[in-house]
Amino acid sequence: MTATTPDGTAGAAGAAQTTGRTPKATGRTPGSAGKVTIVGAGPGAADLLTFRAARAIAEADIVVWAASLVREEVLEHAREDAQILDSASMSLEDVIAVYERAAREGLRVARVHSGDPALWGGTQEQVDRCAELGVEVEIVPGVSSFSAVAAIAGRELTIPEVAQSVILTRLGGGKTPMPPGEEVREFARHGTTMAVFLSAARSGQLAVELLEGGYPTDTPVVIAHQATWPEELVLRCTVGTLEETVKEHRLWKHTLFLVGPALSASGTRSHLYHPGHFHGHRRARPEARRALRAAREAAGRG
Ligand SMILES: C[S@@+](CC[C@H](N)C(=O)[O-])C[C@H]1O[C@@H](n2cnc3c(N)ncnc32)[C@H](O)[C@@H]1O
Repeated sequence: MTATTPDGTAGAAGAAQTTGRTPKATGRTPGSAGKVTIVGAGPGAADLLTFRAARAIAEADIVVWAASLVREEVLEHAREDAQILDSASMSLEDVIAVYERAAREGLRVARVHSGDPALWGGTQEQVDRCAELGVEVEIVPGVSSFSAVAAIAGRELTIPEVAQSVILTRLGGGKTPMPPGEEVREFARHGTTMAVFLSAARSGQLAVELLEGGYPTDTPVVIAHQATWPEELVLRCTVGTLEETVKEHRLWKHTLFLVGPALSASGTRSHLYHPGHFHGHRRARPEARRALRAAREAAGRG
């Protein structure tokens, strides 16, 4: 590994780390504009990268990636001569310096984030700074950890008549204070499905807020640590046993919680695929339509 500064010159310890690849001098025709692509790399497994994400990494002169959150296989898409920088050792200013260099030299940068960059990615501050610099930015969406964990658990998060909303949130009280009204306790009042990020280190507070908000103690919870990584650990418990489960397995980071009755609901079916439901592409069967209408009336929804 060679230490370099974000501008690509040899640097002191603590500067961004590169792999053994040689920093690229310039790969663009003179006058071509630089571009920053913010790439969602998914929850970990390299085959959960989208084709668009893989292409953006393959086209990049510089790849800035979150080594602690993204698996190294993702870099297999990068060019042999691409400069690889680990964002763990970089401040926002260091990253912006890379973008400035890209703008100056007409280079392409792939900034690789975990999951979907739309969620807790520090994405907006980069987009805003690029706008100030006049650097073109594209965002490539990724598979968020909450959808990956739902898939591993074999669950749909929206179940007819049980939960029709998903709240994506995190616990307050850490480095990032929550805006008023966005406490887990407040969201828990809805009783629907909740995906809680960034909160494993305060599992006691999480359990208290979920219970105070009104989830019954036996509400199902899925806890996923390093989902889709070789180290993946997926546990099922309830709101009442959440804290002891987290502590028993010593989970404090890289962990996601899915909470809510949808995680164990069964025996429901969606009206959309009911033979009595019609839409632009399918006719209803008359007897099934009568049965569906009768069921709706019995449930008081006419
Ligand atoms: C900085 S946030 C990034 C979220 C990411 N943008 C996403 O869409 O999943 C990091 C948090 O996401 C969750 N997370 C991300 N990847 C995960 C994974 N593979 N397994 C479990 N949780 C994960 C954890 O709650 C972790 O603390």
